[in-house]
Amino acid sequence: MKLYIINGPNLNLLGIREKTIYGESGFEPFFNGLKELYPSVQFEYFQSNSEGALIDKIHAIGFEYDGIILNAGAYTHTSLAIADAIAGITTPVIEVHISNVHAREPYRHHSYMAKNCRGVISGFGLNSYRLAVESFIY
Ligand code: DQA
Repeated sequence: MKLYIINGPNLNLLGIREKTIYGESGFEPFFNGLKELYPSVQFEYFQSNSEGALIDKIHAIGFEYDGIILNAGAYTHTSLAIADAIAGITTPVIEVHISNVHAREPYRHHSYMAKNCRGVISGFGLNSYRLAVESFIY
């Protein structure tokens, strides 16, 4: 099983940024723990703050991997282009969010990409990514 985790803008600042919302941990230590927890899964990770780079990555891996776990950050709520990229590939995508976007500002309630994804997991902290992994495995 080959899974790709893609993080969008500002998620390089996890552990530094708005800790009361996004927690104390950086993504790197969490990602290393994930690899230890699921040794049979081949994980790759990509983060970018740029919409075009995220789209290029989705195109590059979206016909080859078994699953993509995507936290598009604020692009979730703005990017028709990323939504179209997801619609154009064959690899299933799970949309994840660290925070519960539905308990936050109204402009975070709408996702352009959710309808093109297999499902959405939001509000479980970094465990949102782990739950997405589980859903691909089982
Ligand atoms: C986020 C939620 C988004 O609304 C926000 O813009 C982010 C992070 C989350 O993981 O909770 O950057 O995707």
